[in-house]
Amino acid sequence: MAKKVAIVVGSLRKGSFSRLVAKTCVELAPDSLSFEFIDIGKVSLYNQDQDTDNPPASWKELRDAIRPLDAVLFFTPEYNRGMPGMLKNAIDIASRPYGKSAWDGKPCAVVSVSPGAMGAFGANHHLRQSLVFLNMPAMPQPEAYVGNAAKMFDEGGKMTNDATREFLKKFMATYAVWVARHTPQ
Ligand code: FNR
Repeated sequence: MAKKVAIVVGSLRKGSFSRLVAKTCVELAPDSLSFEFIDIGKVSLYNQDQDTDNPPASWKELRDAIRPLDAVLFFTPEYNRGMPGMLKNAIDIASRPYGKSAWDGKPCAVVSVSPGAMGAFGANHHLRQSLVFLNMPAMPQPEAYVGNAAKMFDEGGKMTNDATREFLKKFMATYAVWVARHTPQ
């Protein structure tokens, strides 16, 4: 049976390049993976006072959406050399209550995306810092820094850059092996 992967995109922008790269990765992925896009846009800001037995509904929805899935794939833009605040907020919310993190042990990988040349390197590694603490085996190689993203898609949102398509296809094949290695068979 296919391993179920949560796709978490750190942008709410309608034309988000990060989301377009995520959709391209889904298209190029091997059959051993299935995907669910997780909506983090409606999740309210974390406030520890509200993290009781009856937390805000949007937090419960996020935690419940991630918990049953096998693995996670993060797509992050870069805001001021780090991951966007809304992505960090979602990560924090699903990491609680203490000892019951929805992320715990799930294999993951990070794809960072930017219209700039550096491919959101800073956001990629900012995010990886949290993944260590969350006990999520993060695929080390290949690293994925997708730069110049504004020039890679046609008007329908299809990735037109053959070299990047080829890279993402190999990336997803390696990720599928990584997921298989780090999930119960
Ligand atoms: C940016 N952008 C940006 N880009 C980058 O490569 N490094 C950076 O540090 C920043 N910083 C930054 C801060 C803020 C507040 C905004 C709004 C934008 C530009 C960013 O990469 C661009 O808006 C992307 O299009 C955002 O990703 P999505 O929405 O296309 O996925």
